[in-house]
Amino acid sequence: MLKKVMLVDDDEMLRKMMNALLAKQGFDVIVLEDGPKTLEELKTTHPDIILLDVMMPGMDGFTVCRAIRDNPATARIPIIMLTALDSVENKVKGFEAGADDYLAKPCDTAELVARINVLIRRAEAIIPQLPAPVITDVAREPARSIAVFSLRGGSGVSTIAVNLAAGLSQLWGMQVALVDMVSVAGQSALFLNQSLRNTWADLCKMEVIDEEGVLSAMLPHESRVRTLASPRRPEESELLTPGKVKTTLEILRSAFPYVVLDMPHDLSERSLTGLDQSDVILIITQPEIASLRAASMAIEIFEDLKYNEQKKIYIILNWTFPRQGLAFNDIERMLKSKIDLILPYAADKFVTALNIGNPPVLSDPEGALGVIFEDIAMALSKEAQRKMRPDQPTAAWKRVTDRIRTKKKG
Ligand SMILES: Nc1ncnc2c1ncn2[C@@H]1O[C@H](COP(=O)(O)OP(=O)(O)OP(=O)(O)O)[C@@H](O)[C@H]1O
Ligand SMILES: [Mg+2]
Repeated sequence: MLKKVMLVDDDEMLRKMMNALLAKQGFDVIVLEDGPKTLEELKTTHPDIILLDVMMPGMDGFTVCRAIRDNPATARIPIIMLTALDSVENKVKGFEAGADDYLAKPCDTAELVARINVLIRRAEAIIPQLPAPVITDVAREPARSIAVFSLRGGSGVSTIAVNLAAGLSQLWGMQVALVDMVSVAGQSALFLNQSLRNTWADLCKMEVIDEEGVLSAMLPHESRVRTLASPRRPEESELLTPGKVKTTLEILRSAFPYVVLDMPHDLSERSLTGLDQSDVILIITQPEIASLRAASMAIEIFEDLKYNEQKKIYIILNWTFPRQGLAFNDIERMLKSKIDLILPYAADKFVTALNIGNPPVLSDPEGALGVIFEDIAMALSKEAQRKMRPDQPTAAWKRVTDRIRTKKKG
């Protein structure tokens, strides 16, 4: 059967041209000229993919995209946004609206067709939903939740959370849950180039939160990281009540061997629920005064909460800037704690990784950053799992154990 492509663009010339081009490629093309007509048509037609122009008079492409995602009947149709404005800002806006891909006009025919085919195939693979995560014996014992936290924004919390989650999934060949605990404009999914097909908000709208619901709200990724994304719209953040967050995290802990939390920079009740549910907390700090004060405040509060008796707390010094920072001794003195790990300044490596939605631990596992995150993943793995050779060791596991062996020898 021919695949149905719905093309939405206000430009008549372009509609004619693309229609001819796509028909020639063997697609069944449905052409529409604006948002309202598209939403009306979608009540009766179910295309395999939608190509959506961004700039249209009246209702713009982002709004149409959001409306398509908000309707359960159409929420899973792949969407490619087409635009004359090729900017990162638009790309981010597109992904936030729930688009799967983004192409600048005029598009190259071969590239357009390739992307259409990839997205259609991916959608067919996702529906019906992915099977529940496979849990092996070692992983069956209590899950390990790791919260990545800083009271100061921009210190690399999301970067570390995403690379750690991906590192764990590569190391053990298992599904790992990545939870965006940021209730407004969270970015975990963006780091993995995942479109916001479903978010926390969809989950919290369900009458009962159960395992099936939680798994279906998570975004799949080829690395086996599954992301529970932050809501698309600010007003939806209120849906994430501490009670619902607690239930969800408990379910995740029973379904996944590892749960990584990308935490907001506050100690709201919701954040505390996340921290309560964690076995390990990574406090991220930068080598400058304001960030160190935030870190030392977090350390004090965690002591008051007796977290230091119940959980493992590690401090990571993240060198997010190229300039000289404070002296190491002064930093430890200020924190009244030892630094457990230093993450070096990586120039624009992380920024580029974010722009293309591919974290270094996946794109370049043998590069300097990949090595660091694979090693962190091993260090933070469950003790029982660390001690045993897996039945089917992954490439990442072999690399990490080789490095450990070499270090021991040296
Ligand atoms: N070691 C590093 N070297 C260079 N740049 C870094 C490093 N760590 C993080 N960055 C960059 O710093 C910026 C902030 O990182 P990130 O978004 O991970 O922090 P965050 O604490 O989650 O911030 P937010 O307040 O937005 O949630 C990003 O552009 C990231 O690429
Ligand atoms: Mg963040």
